[in-house]
Parts: sequence; C-alpha cells; structure tokens
Amino acid sequence: MVREWDPRRAPSAEIGSLLDTLNAVLAADLPADPPWRDGSLREYLAEVMPGERRISWVAQAVPGPDGQPGPILGHINVLLLGDIGVIDLLVHPSVRRHGVGRQLLQVAAHRTLQEGFQSIGVEVVGDTPAVDFYTSLGFVREYVETRSVLRLDRVDWTALSGMASGISSGYRLEFCPGGPPDELLDAYARAKAEVRDTENADGEDDDDPRPSSYDPQRLRDSLDCLDRRGMKPYIVLAIHERTRRVAGLTEVVVPAQHPTRADQYDTIVSPDHRGYGIDRAIKARMLLELRSAEPELTEVQTWNAQANEAMLAVNAELGFRPDREWCEYGVDVAELAHRLDAIG
Ligand SMILES: CC(C)(COP(=O)(O)OP(=O)(O)OC[C@H]1O[C@@H](n2cnc3c(N)ncnc32)[C@H](O)[C@@H]1OP(=O)(O)O)[C@@H](O)C(=O)NCCC(=O)NCCS
Repeated sequence: MVREWDPRRAPSAEIGSLLDTLNAVLAADLPADPPWRDGSLREYLAEVMPGERRISWVAQAVPGPDGQPGPILGHINVLLLGDIGVIDLLVHPSVRRHGVGRQLLQVAAHRTLQEGFQSIGVEVVGDTPAVDFYTSLGFVREYVETRSVLRLDRVDWTALSGMASGISSGYRLEFCPGGPPDELLDAYARAKAEVRDTENADGEDDDDPRPSSYDPQRLRDSLDCLDRRGMKPYIVLAIHERTRRVAGLTEVVVPAQHPTRADQYDTIVSPDHRGYGIDRAIKARMLLELRSAEPELTEVQTWNAQANEAMLAVNAELGFRPDREWCEYGVDVAELAHRLDAIG
C-alpha cells in the first residue's frame, strides 16, 4: 500500500522500520558504507530550508495476522526547490522487481507535476540497480562525479601535519566547529559567491541544504537547517591577514545518522589566492582537528567532478581513494508521468 507520509507525525515504529529498510538497501547496494542510526532521522527527513518543501510517501506491507502494521518497505520523497523536484527513492531488496519503485515514483511524479514543476532530478549511485531503473524510465545522465573515501586509520599523520603548516606566510588558518563565526559570515558568503561566479568549487550537489549558500542570510538559514537535521558542520578558514578576507575555506559535516563517516562539502580557494598551498593546508588541518573533535570518526567521503584534476590530486595526496561514480539524472516530469501511466 502506497500512502503519503509525514515524517514529523509518523509513529516512532515507522521511523524505525524505514531505518531498517534503509540499512538493508545500504547492505545490498553499498556494503562498505556504515549503517545509519536513528540519530535525528525524523528531523533529517522532515526539516527543509525556508522556501523549500519536501513531500514523502511510503510503501507499507499489509498488517500481519496479529493485526500489527506491516513494515515500511519503500519510501520516496521529493524536495521541491527552485524549478526542480529532487527525489530520493528506496525499496527494500527483498521486494525489488515487483513494481514498488515504479509505483512510488508514479505518485511523486504526479504530485510534482501538479505543483507546477517541470523536471525531476535524482542522484544515482554507479554500479547499483538504480542505474537501470532510472534509465528504463527515460531519465538521462546529466552530471557525473566520483566519490572518494579516506580512511583515518591509513592517514600518515606526520605528513599531514607538514601539509597543514605548509602554507605561505601572510595567511592564518582558523578552525571553526559549528560554522563560521558571526563576524566572518559576510566574508565567508562573499568567498563562496566569488567562486560560484567563476567556476564550480570542489564538492557537492545542491539538493541538500548544505551550507553552499552565497548570501549571509541564506548561509545562516542553511546552517540552521543543518543543525535541525542533526548534521554538525566543521569549517577551516584561511584568512589573508593583510586584507582580513577569507582566502579559502573547507567544510566537513558529521551527520548524527552516520557519525563514523563524515561528508566533505565545499572546498574553495578564491582565485586571487591560488598557488599558495591553501587547499592542501586547510584540508589537512581539518583532518587533524576532526581526529580529536570527533573520536568516533573513522572515514571522510568527498565528491568531485572528474574534470577537477587539481582538487583530485590534493585529495589523493591526503589519502582519499576513488570509490565509485555518483551521477545526477534528470527527466521531464510530464513525460515521466505519462510513461508511468502507460506502464500502468
Ligand atoms: C532503484 C529501486 C528504487 C528500484 O526499485 P524496484 O521496486 O525494484 O523497481 P521496479 O520493480 O518498479 O522496477 C521497474 C523497472 O526498472 C528496471 N529495473 C529495476 N531494477 C533493475 C535491475 N536490478 N536490473 C535491471 N533493470 C532493473 C526494470 O525495467 C524494471 O521493470 P521490470 O521489473 O518489469 O523489468 C531499488 O533498486 C532501490 O531502492 N535502489 C536503491 C536506491 C538507492 O537509494 N541507492 C543508493 C543509496 S544505498
């Protein structure tokens, strides 16, 4: 049975059942990823940025002979932002290839269309059944990144200390657990805006309310949203001492849902400050700080455009190893809804 589902009001047992399904999906598709925990999972599913909405549905098994509700075997949500609906869909491995994924996508596509959105985007992990699923439904691959993972137990900490201090004179590094300090928020947002205007930074997709925000208010909102979702940001800044400008920044987030594996978000070095060892130094300093700030942490994952060779080289030096492709797929909503209706 497919029904609309509000994570804010869902009974705890349903949140727990969804977590079991999510972990079964991870075990099947990404067995090297750490299982998720119920750290703020409800908030993770419910909270959005101002101006965005997320609508969710679940596929639930029929009640058992004892009358107890059946487990949640599938879930989809669509995050409506800007002019696109970004979906997240998963189906328990034990019930795959029975049309559950298609059914969930059908309700989400119709609602997205009804809400006036024209396209649907989705993140698809390479080498998983999702590739064939979305391709069979007319989705087209629009963007490819490589996910790389760094294992902290393999880091050469002595070399890393050298990298962290190998920055040209005239810069100082600042570690900011929880996000940039208030007095640097404007400079921080400016540094992000500057690079966004010129090129893509290292890092991440725009679907999540990550702190990839280019004006101070938006940045504040996204930091608040991260906090509500149980995701803790850490930032290392390179400050150009003479001008007090933010010359570089790197962001890592430790999610309560999988606190042993952190996510690298943006890393940015402003164009005027390239060639001074900032990228390597801020990332190395971040790892050194995380080692004591987050004793549970064992890994960090990052996503890079394959063309971003400079960033990939620094990541390799730090110890990141390529893991798999991570792609963005897209489709026209009206065409998708039509196709799904035709399949029935
Ligand atoms: C992608 C996913 C949602 C598909 O769910 P599903 O219920 O198995 O999909 P359906 O049964 O509706 O399949 C629809 C069509 O997609 C295609 N398809 C789906 N899985 C496929 C596979 N493993 N191989 C080839 N084609 C496949 C087929 O054309 C299928 O139609 P058919 O069974 O009539 O041939 C499911 O595999 C899943 O949850 N994957 C994990 C997604 C995810 O988030 N992964 C990353 C984080 S772990």
